[in-house]
Amino acid sequence: MARAPRLEATYEAPPNIALVKYWGVRDAERVIPYNSSISVTLDRLRSRTKVRFDPGLREDRVELNGEVATGGPRDGVVEFLDRVRSLADVTDRADVRSDNNFPTATGLASSASGFAALAGASTAALGLHLSGRELSRLARFGSGSASRSVFGGFVEWRAGTRPDGLDCYARPLYGPDHWPALVDLVMIVKGAPVKDVRSADAMHATVATSPAYRRRLAELPGRSRKIRAAIGARDARRLFPLIMEECDSFREVCETTQPSLDYLTTTSRVLLGEVRAINREDGRPVAGYTHDAGAHMHVFTLERDAPKVRRRLSRLPGVERSFLLRPGPGGRRTG
Ligand code: DP6
Repeated sequence: MARAPRLEATYEAPPNIALVKYWGVRDAERVIPYNSSISVTLDRLRSRTKVRFDPGLREDRVELNGEVATGGPRDGVVEFLDRVRSLADVTDRADVRSDNNFPTATGLASSASGFAALAGASTAALGLHLSGRELSRLARFGSGSASRSVFGGFVEWRAGTRPDGLDCYARPLYGPDHWPALVDLVMIVKGAPVKDVRSADAMHATVATSPAYRRRLAELPGRSRKIRAAIGARDARRLFPLIMEECDSFREVCETTQPSLDYLTTTSRVLLGEVRAINREDGRPVAGYTHDAGAHMHVFTLERDAPKVRRRLSRLPGVERSFLLRPGPGGRRTG
Protein backbone atom coordinates (compact mmCIF):
# COMPACT_ATOMS: atom_id res chain seq x y z
CA MET A 1 0.00 0.00 0.00
CA ALA A 2 1.34 3.42 -0.92
CA ARG A 3 2.18 5.56 2.11
CA ALA A 4 0.08 8.69 2.43
CA PRO A 5 2.22 11.79 1.78
CA ARG A 6 3.20 13.73 4.88
CA LEU A 7 1.24 16.91 4.44
CA GLU A 8 3.53 19.16 6.41
CA ALA A 9 6.17 21.79 5.76
CA THR A 10 8.08 24.54 7.55
CA TYR A 11 8.94 27.88 6.00
CA GLU A 12 10.81 30.90 7.33
CA ALA A 13 10.28 34.45 6.17
CA PRO A 14 11.69 37.84 7.23
CA PRO A 15 9.95 41.16 7.82
CA ASN A 16 10.50 44.10 5.49
CA ILE A 17 10.36 47.87 5.86
CA ALA A 18 8.82 49.93 3.08
CA LEU A 19 10.74 52.86 1.60
CA VAL A 20 7.74 53.58 -0.66
CA LYS A 21 4.62 52.77 1.30
CA TYR A 22 1.69 50.60 0.36
CA TRP A 23 -1.33 52.56 1.65
CA GLY A 24 -4.65 52.20 -0.13
CA VAL A 25 -6.31 49.45 -2.16
CA ARG A 26 -8.19 50.01 -5.39
CA ASP A 27 -9.71 46.52 -5.22
CA ALA A 28 -10.17 45.24 -1.67
CA GLU A 29 -11.35 41.78 -2.69
CA ARG A 30 -8.30 41.14 -4.85
CA VAL A 31 -5.96 43.22 -2.63
CA ILE A 32 -4.77 45.35 -5.53
CA PRO A 33 -3.09 48.52 -4.26
CA TYR A 34 -3.35 51.98 -5.80
CA ASN A 35 0.42 52.27 -6.00
CA SER A 36 3.48 50.09 -6.33
CA SER A 37 5.68 49.98 -3.22
CA ILE A 38 9.39 49.38 -2.54
CA SER A 39 10.90 47.76 0.52
CA VAL A 40 14.05 46.39 2.08
CA THR A 41 13.89 42.85 3.43
CA LEU A 42 15.59 42.72 6.83
CA ASP A 43 18.15 40.18 8.00
CA ARG A 44 18.26 38.32 11.35
CA LEU A 45 14.54 38.60 12.11
CA ARG A 46 12.12 35.93 10.92
CA SER A 47 8.81 34.19 11.39
CA ARG A 48 9.01 30.40 11.28
CA THR A 49 5.77 28.62 10.44
CA LYS A 50 5.03 24.93 10.41
CA VAL A 51 1.82 23.73 8.78
CA ARG A 52 0.48 20.18 8.98
CA PHE A 53 -2.73 19.24 7.19
CA ASP A 54 -4.49 16.44 9.02
CA PRO A 55 -7.66 14.69 7.82
CA GLY A 56 -8.37 13.82 11.47
CA LEU A 57 -8.75 17.46 12.58
CA ARG A 58 -12.26 18.91 12.83
CA GLU A 59 -11.08 22.49 12.69
CA ASP A 60 -7.92 24.49 12.11
CA ARG A 61 -5.69 24.90 15.12
CA VAL A 62 -3.49 27.98 15.16
CA GLU A 63 -0.71 28.62 17.64
CA LEU A 64 1.14 31.93 17.51
CA ASN A 65 4.26 32.32 19.63
CA GLY A 66 3.27 29.38 21.82
CA GLU A 67 -0.30 30.53 22.46
CA VAL A 68 -3.49 29.28 20.88
CA ALA A 69 -4.80 32.08 18.67
CA THR A 70 -8.44 33.18 18.82
CA GLY A 71 -10.54 35.96 17.28
CA GLY A 72 -9.09 38.18 14.54
CA PRO A 73 -5.57 36.69 14.36
CA ARG A 74 -6.99 33.15 14.06
CA ASP A 75 -9.64 34.21 11.55
CA GLY A 76 -6.98 35.77 9.30
CA VAL A 77 -5.02 32.51 9.23
CA VAL A 78 -8.12 30.34 8.65
CA GLU A 79 -9.29 32.58 5.79
CA PHE A 80 -5.85 32.32 4.21
CA LEU A 81 -5.82 28.53 4.60
CA ASP A 82 -9.23 28.38 2.92
CA ARG A 83 -7.74 30.11 -0.10
CA VAL A 84 -4.83 27.65 -0.20
CA ARG A 85 -7.19 24.68 0.26
CA SER A 86 -9.29 25.80 -2.66
CA LEU A 87 -6.14 26.18 -4.80
CA ALA A 88 -5.11 22.61 -3.96
CA ASP A 89 -8.67 21.31 -4.01
CA VAL A 90 -8.50 19.78 -0.52
CA THR A 91 -10.65 20.20 2.58
CA ASP A 92 -8.32 18.93 5.33
CA ARG A 93 -7.97 21.14 8.38
CA ALA A 94 -4.52 22.19 9.52
CA ASP A 95 -2.36 22.55 12.57
CA VAL A 96 -0.36 25.79 12.28
CA ARG A 97 2.47 26.77 14.59
CA SER A 98 4.22 30.04 14.02
CA ASP A 99 6.79 31.90 16.05
CA ASN A 100 8.87 35.01 15.63
CA ASN A 101 12.46 35.28 16.77
CA PHE A 102 11.71 38.89 17.68
CA PRO A 103 9.24 39.97 20.35
CA THR A 104 5.83 40.80 18.87
CA ALA A 105 5.59 43.38 21.65
CA THR A 106 8.34 45.40 19.96
CA GLY A 107 5.68 46.24 17.40
CA LEU A 108 7.96 45.32 14.51
CA ALA A 109 5.71 44.32 11.66
CA SER A 110 5.09 40.61 11.97
CA SER A 111 2.16 40.31 9.57
CA ALA A 112 4.48 40.53 6.53
CA SER A 113 6.86 37.83 7.77
CA GLY A 114 4.03 35.78 9.27
CA PHE A 115 1.89 35.60 6.14
CA ALA A 116 4.84 35.09 3.80
CA ALA A 117 5.86 32.14 6.00
CA LEU A 118 2.29 30.81 6.11
CA ALA A 119 2.00 31.05 2.32
CA GLY A 120 5.27 29.16 1.86
CA ALA A 121 4.55 26.47 4.45
CA SER A 122 0.91 25.79 3.58
CA THR A 123 1.46 25.54 -0.18
CA ALA A 124 4.56 23.35 0.24
CA ALA A 125 2.69 21.07 2.67
CA LEU A 126 0.04 20.45 0.01
CA GLY A 127 2.64 19.82 -2.68
CA LEU A 128 1.85 22.99 -4.63
CA HIS A 129 5.17 24.00 -6.13
CA LEU A 130 4.74 27.74 -6.44
CA SER A 131 7.35 30.03 -7.96
CA GLY A 132 8.45 33.11 -5.98
CA ARG A 133 6.15 35.22 -8.09
CA GLU A 134 3.16 32.95 -7.46
CA LEU A 135 3.93 32.84 -3.75
CA SER A 136 4.12 36.63 -3.64
CA ARG A 137 0.83 36.94 -5.50
CA LEU A 138 -0.79 34.63 -2.94
CA ALA A 139 0.85 36.06 0.21
CA ARG A 140 -0.70 39.49 -0.36
CA PHE A 141 -4.12 38.07 0.52
CA GLY A 142 -2.87 37.49 4.07
CA SER A 143 -1.22 40.88 4.41
CA GLY A 144 -0.35 43.20 1.53
CA SER A 145 3.21 43.75 2.69
CA ALA A 146 3.77 39.96 2.90
CA SER A 147 3.98 39.89 -0.90
CA ARG A 148 7.41 41.57 -0.55
CA SER A 149 8.81 39.31 2.21
CA VAL A 150 9.01 36.39 -0.22
CA PHE A 151 12.12 38.00 -1.75
CA GLY A 152 15.38 39.25 -0.26
CA GLY A 153 17.19 42.56 -0.71
CA PHE A 154 15.39 45.48 -2.34
CA VAL A 155 11.94 44.52 -3.52
CA GLU A 156 9.18 46.17 -5.52
CA TRP A 157 5.54 45.14 -5.23
CA ARG A 158 4.00 46.14 -8.54
CA ALA A 159 0.39 47.20 -8.43
CA GLY A 160 -0.07 46.06 -12.03
CA THR A 161 -2.84 47.18 -14.35
CA ARG A 162 -4.95 44.06 -14.88
CA PRO A 163 -8.38 44.06 -13.21
CA ASP A 164 -7.89 40.37 -12.27
CA GLY A 165 -4.70 41.16 -10.33
CA LEU A 166 -2.56 38.58 -12.14
CA ASP A 167 0.19 41.16 -12.68
CA CYS A 168 0.07 42.27 -9.04
CA TYR A 169 3.11 40.70 -7.34
CA ALA A 170 6.51 41.58 -5.95
CA ARG A 171 9.84 41.12 -7.67
CA PRO A 172 13.40 41.61 -6.47
CA LEU A 173 15.06 44.82 -7.70
CA TYR A 174 18.50 44.17 -6.19
CA GLY A 175 19.73 41.29 -4.06
CA PRO A 176 20.69 41.47 -0.37
CA ASP A 177 24.38 42.03 -1.21
CA HIS A 178 23.77 44.97 -3.53
CA TRP A 179 24.64 47.65 -0.96
CA PRO A 180 26.68 46.21 1.92
CA ALA A 181 27.33 49.62 3.51
CA LEU A 182 23.64 50.38 4.05
CA VAL A 183 22.27 49.72 7.54
CA ASP A 184 18.90 50.14 9.23
CA LEU A 185 19.00 51.28 12.85
CA VAL A 186 15.70 50.20 14.33
CA MET A 187 14.92 52.47 17.27
CA ILE A 188 12.45 50.86 19.64
CA VAL A 189 10.49 53.47 21.60
CA LYS A 190 8.90 52.91 25.01
CA GLY A 191 5.14 52.78 25.35
CA ALA A 192 4.38 52.19 21.65
CA PRO A 193 0.61 51.80 21.48
CA VAL A 194 -0.70 48.47 20.20
CA LYS A 195 -2.42 48.92 16.82
CA ASP A 196 -6.17 48.94 17.35
CA VAL A 197 -7.21 49.33 13.69
CA ARG A 198 -5.98 46.87 11.04
CA SER A 199 -3.87 48.57 8.39
CA ALA A 200 -6.27 47.34 5.72
CA ASP A 201 -9.14 49.21 7.42
CA ALA A 202 -7.04 52.25 8.26
CA MET A 203 -5.90 52.73 4.67
CA HIS A 204 -9.47 52.39 3.48
CA ALA A 205 -10.41 55.31 5.75
CA THR A 206 -7.48 57.33 4.36
CA VAL A 207 -8.56 56.81 0.76
CA ALA A 208 -12.13 57.80 1.66
CA THR A 209 -11.39 60.87 3.77
CA SER A 210 -7.87 62.31 3.46
CA PRO A 211 -7.81 65.41 1.23
CA ALA A 212 -4.06 64.83 0.71
CA TYR A 213 -4.38 61.31 -0.70
CA ARG A 214 -4.90 62.28 -4.39
CA ARG A 215 -1.84 64.50 -4.35
CA ARG A 216 0.21 61.71 -2.78
CA LEU A 217 -0.82 59.31 -5.55
CA ALA A 218 0.09 61.86 -8.21
CA GLU A 219 3.55 62.39 -6.68
CA LEU A 220 4.36 58.72 -6.23
CA PRO A 221 5.48 57.63 -9.71
CA GLY A 222 8.15 60.35 -9.81
CA ARG A 223 9.31 59.77 -6.25
CA SER A 224 9.42 56.00 -6.71
CA ARG A 225 11.47 56.35 -9.87
CA LYS A 226 14.01 58.51 -8.02
CA ILE A 227 14.14 56.08 -5.09
CA ARG A 228 14.75 53.13 -7.42
CA ALA A 229 17.53 55.06 -9.14
CA ALA A 230 19.18 56.09 -5.85
CA ILE A 231 19.15 52.46 -4.65
CA GLY A 232 20.55 51.31 -8.00
CA ALA A 233 23.39 53.83 -7.79
CA ARG A 234 23.94 53.16 -4.04
CA ASP A 235 23.57 56.90 -3.58
CA ALA A 236 22.82 57.59 0.08
CA ARG A 237 22.83 61.37 -0.36
CA ARG A 238 19.94 61.07 -2.78
CA LEU A 239 18.15 58.21 -1.08
CA PHE A 240 17.91 59.49 2.50
CA PRO A 241 16.04 62.77 1.75
CA LEU A 242 13.72 60.88 -0.61
CA ILE A 243 12.72 58.23 1.93
CA MET A 244 12.04 60.96 4.52
CA GLU A 245 9.90 62.84 1.99
CA GLU A 246 7.98 59.63 1.30
CA CYS A 247 7.55 58.88 5.01
CA ASP A 248 6.33 62.45 5.63
CA SER A 249 3.79 62.04 2.81
CA PHE A 250 2.55 58.76 4.33
CA ARG A 251 2.26 60.43 7.75
CA GLU A 252 0.43 63.40 6.27
CA VAL A 253 -2.30 61.24 4.71
CA CYS A 254 -2.65 59.31 7.98
CA GLU A 255 -2.95 62.45 10.08
CA THR A 256 -5.50 64.02 7.72
CA THR A 257 -7.67 60.87 7.76
CA GLN A 258 -11.03 61.24 9.59
CA PRO A 259 -10.72 60.21 12.39
CA SER A 260 -7.02 60.99 12.39
CA LEU A 261 -4.53 58.11 12.43
CA ASP A 262 -1.63 58.89 14.71
CA TYR A 263 0.86 56.05 15.11
CA LEU A 264 3.65 57.99 16.78
CA THR A 265 4.64 58.74 20.36
CA THR A 266 6.36 61.90 21.55
CA THR A 267 9.66 60.02 21.38
CA SER A 268 9.02 59.01 17.76
CA ARG A 269 8.56 62.67 16.88
CA VAL A 270 11.70 63.66 18.75
CA LEU A 271 13.56 61.01 16.72
CA LEU A 272 12.29 62.52 13.45
CA GLY A 273 13.56 65.92 14.56
CA GLU A 274 16.90 64.54 15.71
CA VAL A 275 17.60 62.86 12.34
CA ARG A 276 16.80 66.16 10.59
CA ALA A 277 19.13 67.96 13.05
CA ILE A 278 22.00 65.51 12.42
CA ASN A 279 21.70 66.09 8.68
CA ARG A 280 21.51 69.86 9.10
CA GLU A 281 24.54 70.01 11.39
CA ASP A 282 26.64 67.83 9.08
CA GLY A 283 25.51 69.74 6.00
CA ARG A 284 24.78 66.42 4.23
CA PRO A 285 22.19 63.67 4.46
CA VAL A 286 23.85 61.36 7.00
CA ALA A 287 20.67 59.41 7.72
CA GLY A 288 17.05 59.01 6.63
CA TYR A 289 14.10 57.95 8.76
CA THR A 290 11.04 55.95 7.93
CA HIS A 291 8.28 54.26 9.95
CA ASP A 292 5.28 52.13 9.19
CA ALA A 293 1.93 52.11 10.98
CA GLY A 294 3.67 52.07 14.36
CA ALA A 295 5.78 54.18 16.69
CA HIS A 296 9.22 52.63 16.16
CA MET A 297 11.67 54.27 13.78
CA HIS A 298 13.85 52.79 11.09
CA VAL A 299 16.84 55.06 10.52
CA PHE A 300 18.88 54.24 7.44
CA THR A 301 22.50 55.29 7.41
CA LEU A 302 25.86 54.08 6.16
CA GLU A 303 28.02 51.68 8.11
CA ARG A 304 30.68 54.34 8.79
CA ASP A 305 28.16 56.78 10.26
CA ALA A 306 26.13 54.17 12.14
CA PRO A 307 28.00 54.31 15.51
CA LYS A 308 27.64 58.06 15.92
CA VAL A 309 24.02 58.15 14.69
CA ARG A 310 23.13 55.25 16.99
CA ARG A 311 24.83 56.83 20.01
CA ARG A 312 23.07 60.11 19.49
CA LEU A 313 19.61 58.61 18.96
CA SER A 314 19.92 55.96 21.71
CA ARG A 315 20.48 58.50 24.45
CA LEU A 316 17.19 60.29 23.80
CA PRO A 317 14.70 59.76 26.63
CA GLY A 318 12.01 57.25 25.69
CA VAL A 319 14.24 55.17 23.42
CA GLU A 320 14.21 51.65 24.83
CA ARG A 321 16.76 49.89 22.65
CA SER A 322 18.04 49.70 19.10
CA PHE A 323 18.91 46.98 16.59
CA LEU A 324 21.30 47.27 13.71
CA LEU A 325 19.85 45.40 10.73
CA ARG A 326 20.91 44.99 7.11
CA PRO A 327 19.24 43.92 3.91
CA GLY A 328 18.79 40.15 4.11
CA PRO A 329 17.59 37.11 2.17
CA GLY A 330 13.95 36.31 1.45
CA GLY A 331 11.75 33.47 2.60
CA ARG A 332 12.75 29.79 2.25
CA ARG A 333 11.56 26.34 3.07
CA THR A 334 13.39 24.85 6.03
CA GLY A 335 11.55 21.61 6.66
C1 DP6 B 1 2.44 51.25 6.53
O1 DP6 B 1 0.40 44.97 4.68
O2 DP6 B 1 0.50 45.36 7.16
O3 DP6 B 1 3.51 49.13 6.65
O4 DP6 B 1 -2.96 43.94 4.97
O5 DP6 B 1 -3.70 45.08 7.09
O6 DP6 B 1 -1.78 43.48 7.11
P1 DP6 B 1 -2.59 44.47 6.31
O7 DP6 B 1 -1.66 45.67 5.94
P2 DP6 B 1 -0.09 45.72 5.84
O8 DP6 B 1 0.10 47.29 5.57
C2 DP6 B 1 1.37 47.81 5.43
C3 DP6 B 1 1.33 49.26 5.64
C4 DP6 B 1 2.68 49.92 5.84
C5 DP6 B 1 3.36 50.22 4.50
C6 DP6 B 1 4.04 49.08 3.81
O9 DP6 B 1 4.52 48.13 4.45
O10 DP6 B 1 4.15 49.18 2.57
